[in-house]
Amino acid sequence: MNTTLFLSVSIDGFIADKQGIPLFPEGAWEDWCALVNATGNVIAGRSSFEQLQGDPMGAALHPRHKIVLSTQDIDTADSGWTQAGSPAEALKILEDAGVEEAMIGGGRAIACSFMREQLVDHIVVDLQPVAFGTGVPVFGDDVEVSALKLLESQPLNEDAIRLRYQVLRHEQ
Ligand SMILES: NC(=O)c1ccc[n+]([C@@H]2O[C@H](COP(=O)([O-])OP(=O)(O)OC[C@H]3O[C@@H](n4cnc5c(N)ncnc54)[C@H](OP(=O)(O)O)[C@@H]3O)[C@@H](O)[C@H]2O)c1
Repeated sequence: MNTTLFLSVSIDGFIADKQGIPLFPEGAWEDWCALVNATGNVIAGRSSFEQLQGDPMGAALHPRHKIVLSTQDIDTADSGWTQAGSPAEALKILEDAGVEEAMIGGGRAIACSFMREQLVDHIVVDLQPVAFGTGVPVFGDDVEVSALKLLESQPLNEDAIRLRYQVLRHEQ
């Protein structure tokens, strides 16, 4: 199974504004959900999961498998989400379900965890035409991405572009 970290990102490297709101231009959320839905799964952190609960935006996100990562005992009843306690457990659930490409959907803490554990094969970035100045960075400060290979670039509309990278590890 391959793993893909997938995030919408501002041109100054943030995945949400300083209030923690992913305030991207119209259509960005729908574009992001369309790829997740087509792939059929998403892994999200507890904060991102909670942000979606009760938010009308949540309706656009409906992949077959939705995994929330948390170290706590959280209430997922009636939410359609399954809890996992670690990145490895999340990937095992998806692998056992026959998923071929696991979609790691963020937020920052989840992106860091998977990158630090070297569990990310591809990074897909929807580069959105907005700058937040300050906000939630993609990784924070202690993740090193030594080299990436650009596999594909695809315009999403006149102003936004989707970039697909392969994460090159030392042996590659
Ligand atoms: N632009 C985008 O594409 C995009 C996508 C998603 C989210 N976001 C934004 O990202 C922000 C949220 O990011 P965040 O970093 O604050 O939170 P987050 O990554 O969504 O969730 C963090 C929580 O996930 C759990 N977690 C993290 N690493 C774990 C691990 N290795 N094992 C088990 N559980 C783990 C912990 O939950 P417990 O504390 O319960 O243990 C942690 O508190 C929001 O502003 C959201 O809008 C943006």
